[in-house]
Amino acid sequence: MIDNDKFQTLLQTRRSTRDFLPTEVDEGLLKEILNDGVNAPSWSNTRPYLVAVATGAQRDRISKALIERLRENAEVKGMAANPDFTHEVPYPDGLLQRSQKVGMGIYEILGIDRSDKQARFRFMERNYEFFGAPVALFFFTHKGLDQFGTLDLGLYMQNLMLSATNKGLGTCPQGYLGNYPDIIKAEFDVPEEYALVCGMSLGYPSDHPINSWQAERLNIDELTVGSKD
Ligand SMILES: Cc1cc2nc3c(=O)[nH]c(=O)nc-3n(C[C@H](O)[C@H](O)[C@H](O)COP(=O)(O)O)c2cc1C
Repeated sequence: MIDNDKFQTLLQTRRSTRDFLPTEVDEGLLKEILNDGVNAPSWSNTRPYLVAVATGAQRDRISKALIERLRENAEVKGMAANPDFTHEVPYPDGLLQRSQKVGMGIYEILGIDRSDKQARFRFMERNYEFFGAPVALFFFTHKGLDQFGTLDLGLYMQNLMLSATNKGLGTCPQGYLGNYPDIIKAEFDVPEEYALVCGMSLGYPSDHPINSWQAERLNIDELTVGSKD
């Protein structure tokens, strides 16, 4: 077992990175990180997920196509519709407020006024520029396993993110990157029965202040249901 203090440091150091250096990520190192994810548990060991890796010209092409689509859909509020997976927009009451806190925190540190639609739109575009990261990952799950597939993918992604953190890399899991499956599926051989869920930017964090901003950590007491007894 590794020292508990070191483990705590690893857990607490993992934060979403939203500004990356252009420094390339070594191919072998990237493979190691992706492989570390597979140590996660999985429903009946089915591993009902797939990952696609975009770097270099392919990464740039995808970024361009996503931004073009975002601009075409500029009038759409919130998340665009992914035909394979849907969630409520805006978020359900109670959860909406938590989400707004993150938005406000990010806008504040970036100096974006909430009324400045152009600046907010620019931040959305930054999502599709992978915040400058040289590596973009896209994640798919088998449509036949519903929640279990998504759950397994989440476990895989978390392992991957912790591994990346431990190797000095930053990550940002991004729902935004799941908005336009046709663009991603046109770039990779994804089996028909797999659906795009989300993506992730991966690379070396810059020293931009956005990377030191810390999202609130809820106390577990707020997330524990009371007993009826
Ligand atoms: C499924 C999922 C989707 C997310 N989508 C986005 C996104 O599209 N853009 C973004 O900047 N952050 C995104 N995030 C990052 C969350 O905002 C972040 O994890 C949360 O605010 C907690 O902050 P932390 O990751 O720094 O601990 C996403 C996280 C998850 C797990």
